[in-house]
Amino acid sequence: MGNFLAGKVVAVTGAGRGIGRAVALACAAEGARVVVNDYGVSIDGAEPTSDIAAAVVKEIVAAGGEAVAVADDISTMAGGQRVVDTALAQYGRIDGAVCVAGILRERMLFNMSEEEWDPVLATHLKGTFTVFRAASAVMRKQGAGTLIGFTSGNHQGSVSQANYSAAKGGIISLVRSAALGLHKYGVTANAVAPVARTRMSANVPMELKEIGDPEDVAALVVYLLSDRARAEKITGQVYTVAGPKIAVWAQPRELRAAYAAEPWTPERIAEFLPGTVGTDPMPLLERLEEMARAAATDSHPNA
Ligand SMILES: NC(=O)c1ccc[n+]([C@@H]2O[C@H](COP(=O)([O-])OP(=O)(O)OC[C@H]3O[C@@H](n4cnc5c(N)ncnc54)[C@H](O)[C@@H]3O)[C@@H](O)[C@H]2O)c1
Repeated sequence: MGNFLAGKVVAVTGAGRGIGRAVALACAAEGARVVVNDYGVSIDGAEPTSDIAAAVVKEIVAAGGEAVAVADDISTMAGGQRVVDTALAQYGRIDGAVCVAGILRERMLFNMSEEEWDPVLATHLKGTFTVFRAASAVMRKQGAGTLIGFTSGNHQGSVSQANYSAAKGGIISLVRSAALGLHKYGVTANAVAPVARTRMSANVPMELKEIGDPEDVAALVVYLLSDRARAEKITGQVYTVAGPKIAVWAQPRELRAAYAAEPWTPERIAEFLPGTVGTDPMPLLERLEEMARAAATDSHPNA
């Protein structure tokens, strides 16, 4: 065992499978006592079972670590609170809260139902809020703690997962708000946009050019939870890990501005905007157009 997280108590949601499981195992291996939360659901959020969280606790204990299972649904306020209360009841404090739980319900926007929208937003975005809310109240009093949200490269937009993309964009804004609001209490907040082989990535409609394993992502999370990252004052950041690649995302900011001498009218904007403020090309849209061109060339090679 290493000692990157010696003495720390870390709660991980969605810790029964995939990336969350790897994070929980890595935290325990680095000396943390771990709350393993997982509702034990199918990829679309159905058929819960407590076996999934219990199995990871068994693995941690078998490896000589300390862990406790919470099989609650973190999309409820009570579920998020129970994750944090369990850390306090069992171990007396909470140093890290890592929100990994997620589900997918894929559909084109024009066909998407409320039953496809609501649970995806509830699991990802509200499920990060419920745990951040309960954990930050304790961390504020402790004067220390680390919050980690899980986003996705899909926060830039998605052809057929508008619900997932909207939730992942929301998580970035929630993380940045936590970083700003908790800064003076010594609490940091960061987001991770992973790319790793799991049952979820097997369902992504696009080819993933850069991909790694859940253990790659777990190493970054352990670092972000550690005193080494806290000493570097890392907060409000979004990091991608995809196998050997690690990357930081830009902070959103105004790109170009222009000022009018007189009040704006639609006519004045129509004359002014295209040549001055213009647009910022959308990388994913450019990639879609590239794919459409390649597909057209493939079907008409001599065109
Ligand atoms: N795998 C990737 O390449 C990838 C890419 C981008 C983002 N992500 C994000 O990383 C996170 C982990 O993804 P994964 O690939 O390991 O998925 P996964 O499906 O393997 O694991 C997700 C876990 O979350 C649990 N869960 C679902 N709803 C829950 C709820 N309401 N309460 C508690 N637990 C719940 C599930 O039971 C499951 O064990 C997700 O937030 C996902 O959106 C993953």
